[in-house]
Amino acid sequence: VAALGAQAQAAFPGGKPITIMVPFAAGGPTDRVARDLAEALRKPLGGATVLVDNAAGAGGSIGANKVAKAPADGYMLLVHHIGMATMPTLVRNIPFKVESDFEYLGMINDVPMTLIGKPALTATSYKELTSWIGQNKGKINLGNAGVGSASHLCGLLFQNAIKTDMTPVPYKGTAPAMTDLIGGQIDLMCDQTTNTTSQIEGKKVKAFAVTTSKRLATPALKDLPTLQESGLKDFEVTIWHGLYAPKGTPADIQKKLNDALKVALKDPEFIKKQEGLGAVVVTDKRTDPAEHKKFVAAEIAKWSPIIKAAGVYAD
Ligand code: MLT
Repeated sequence: VAALGAQAQAAFPGGKPITIMVPFAAGGPTDRVARDLAEALRKPLGGATVLVDNAAGAGGSIGANKVAKAPADGYMLLVHHIGMATMPTLVRNIPFKVESDFEYLGMINDVPMTLIGKPALTATSYKELTSWIGQNKGKINLGNAGVGSASHLCGLLFQNAIKTDMTPVPYKGTAPAMTDLIGGQIDLMCDQTTNTTSQIEGKKVKAFAVTTSKRLATPALKDLPTLQESGLKDFEVTIWHGLYAPKGTPADIQKKLNDALKVALKDPEFIKKQEGLGAVVVTDKRTDPAEHKKFVAAEIAKWSPIIKAAGVYAD
């Protein structure tokens, strides 16, 4: 790591800070990943200052666009999630091209989602939740982080699977949405375990199911049924995060950033933090930029027909 650090030092001279842009509000799941990653990147980047900044709004496309349009010098990076693969279908006029306006620097993690509800809900199981939903059609508020966000995608697919429309309540991220869910201002939300695990442990929200095909090992989540076993047969949503730079970032800088990412992903501290919140740090070939790019293209191809079949679009 020292040699890498010295090399990286050359790439990022003069201690100018590197910024990781998070396209959602501070305190949410995307922010969580970025802050944990920034911590783990410092050493392999030769002790560089790695800051995290938030530019929320429009389901993540405002922050992503800032990076797409930033100088391609390696000092402005983006951490973003599955929205990079769903926005091209969900949001007709995003101001950038996912596949050509970014350099792909490697994948970071895979994160399950949980279906959670406000504490006042009397339902204590997924089955009881479905009867509550049946009795409250037309009156249910579903929190999300805006059109194109992970919570938005999961919420759309859930409504479609149970054939019940709910009122989407968009926030600048699922951190502020979680505050309103705990406060009872909204009724339900589908959100990543990196944001919900501690609230479920603290009994601040009701938890009903997980969106993965298998139950989770995390102690606070292991008794939650999957939505598949609860009757939504092929319901599967796993969120993932990747690291990006503006198109045209010099190849040697891209390599130094990807090398540092690979070291960070092996950092025991980083792994412990992420796994403690139900996330799984990527160890497969998706940490290579070319495989990262191929994976996102495959996810665009996967989610586009699913979203279209669910008949949901948004501008
Ligand atoms: C999402 O729903 O896309 C994310 O949870 C937003 C966030 O990180 O706040």
